[in-house]
Amino acid sequence: MRIAVFGLGFVGLTTALGFADKGYSVRGYDINQERCAEIAGGKVPFFEPGLDDALARNLGKTFILADSAIDAADQSDICFFCVGTPGLPDGSADLAQLLLAIDSVLETVSEVCVLVVKSTIPPGTLNERVTPYVRAKGAGNPVAVNPEFLREGKCWDDFMNPDRIVCGVTDDAAKNVLAELYKLFGAPLHYVEPNTAEFIKYLSNSLLAALISYSNEMALLADAVDGIETARAFRILHEDRRLAGAGINTYIYPGCGYGGYCLPKDIAALDAVALNRGFTPRILEGVISLNNEMPELTARKIARAAGEKTEKIGILGLSFKRGSDDVRDSPAAKIIGALVQGGYVSIYAYDPLAMQEFHNTYRLSITYCASANEVCETCGTVALVTAWDEFQGIDKTFPDTRFVDCRYFLG
Ligand SMILES: NC(=O)c1ccc[n+]([C@@H]2O[C@H](COP(=O)([O-])OP(=O)(O)OC[C@H]3O[C@@H](n4cnc5c(N)ncnc54)[C@H](O)[C@@H]3O)[C@@H](O)[C@H]2O)c1
Repeated sequence: MRIAVFGLGFVGLTTALGFADKGYSVRGYDINQERCAEIAGGKVPFFEPGLDDALARNLGKTFILADSAIDAADQSDICFFCVGTPGLPDGSADLAQLLLAIDSVLETVSEVCVLVVKSTIPPGTLNERVTPYVRAKGAGNPVAVNPEFLREGKCWDDFMNPDRIVCGVTDDAAKNVLAELYKLFGAPLHYVEPNTAEFIKYLSNSLLAALISYSNEMALLADAVDGIETARAFRILHEDRRLAGAGINTYIYPGCGYGGYCLPKDIAALDAVALNRGFTPRILEGVISLNNEMPELTARKIARAAGEKTEKIGILGLSFKRGSDDVRDSPAAKIIGALVQGGYVSIYAYDPLAMQEFHNTYRLSITYCASANEVCETCGTVALVTAWDEFQGIDKTFPDTRFVDCRYFLG
C-alpha cells in the first residue's frame, strides 16, 4: 500500500514515520520548504522523543520526502491530511490549510485513492464542508476522517501503541483501506459516522480542558479560604480508588491554565459549533472564560509576591507543558505579557528546551538565562510556570528567593 502524508508537523511527521516503520511505503510533503529541508537532512524540526530514531531508520527507505504535493500524491492508495486547523477570530476552525492541501492533490490522485482527514475538525465538517468541496471539484474519491489522539512529548509512543483508533467513514472503500492499514496496530478499531468520529476527538479534549479549569477553579477557591494546602489536597484526591493510577490525574491538577496548539483552539471551535446551532454550552463557556482569566490571575499572584515594579522577576519554564518545546499558546507568554503590562520590565527566563522557539515566536524583551540557577541568583521573585522535572527542589537550593509555584509542583 502506498501512503501520502500532507503536513509534516507533530501529527504528520509522526504519522508518516509510524506507517513507514510498519513497512508501508510513505511519501511525505510539507508546504514549508525549510521544514522539508531539515527533515531531508535527517533532523526532526521539534523535540519529540523517538522521532529522530524513526527518521534515521526510515528516511530514504520506506519514508521518502516528496518534492511537491503532486509527487507525494502520485500513485497513492491513501492520502492523510495532517495540516493545521487553527482558530478563526470567532473561535471556529479555519479550514483553509486543509482545503488547500486537498486541492493540491485532486488532479493527481486516482479516483480510488482514499482521502483521510487526520487534522482535528469540528463535528459536521467532513459531511458539510470537506466532502462537498471534493465533490464540487468533480472528484468522486472516498473521503474519511481519522482523528489523532497523540500527546505532544509522547507522539511516537502514542501513535505506535494507540489505545483506540477511530475512523469516520461512509463507504466500504474507505473502510477497507483503513482496515488493511491499521491491522498492524492491534488497537480497538472503531468505524463510526464521520460526525461521531469528529465528536469523539472533541469529547476527549473538552473533558481534559474541563478538568483543568475545574482544578484551577478549586485552587482559586482554596486560596480564598485560609490554611488550605492545595497541592496536598489534590494529591490526596488522586488516591481515590476511582482515580488512583489513572493518567487522567495529570489533568485533575491546578496550574496556570491550559495552552498549547490543541486545547484552546479545539474548545473554542466546539463552542462555536454549539453556538452556531443555537445551543449555548454553559460548562464549556465557563471552562473557556476561566482559562482566559488564568494568565492575568497568575500574573497578579506573581506581582503580589514581587511588590515593587523595579523587582527582578524570574520565570522558570516557557513551553506550554513539560517534556515539549512547543510554545504555541503557552501560558508563559501571556503571564509575561500581563507582568510587563503591569509595569514589571525586568524579567529573566529559562527553559531547558524552548527558549529559542519562545524568542522567535513572541519577541518579548526579556533576558534569557543559561540555567534555572542563574534565574534564581538574579531575581528576588521567581515564578515556576512550567513543571520541568529539573526544577524540583530549586526552592530548597535558594531558600531566600520568593517562589511563586504556579504549577503547585515544588515541595
Ligand atoms: N499537536 C498535537 O498534539 C495534536 C494532537 C492531535 C491532533 N492534532 C491536530 O492535528 C493537526 C496538525 O497539528 P500539528 O500540531 O501537527 O500542526 P503543525 O503546525 O505542527 O503541522 C502542520 C504542518 O502542516 C503544514 N502545511 C500547511 N498547509 C499545508 C499544505 N497545503 N500542504 C502540506 N503541508 C501543509 C505546515 O507547514 C505544518 O508543518 C491539527 O488539526 C491539530 O489540531 C494535533
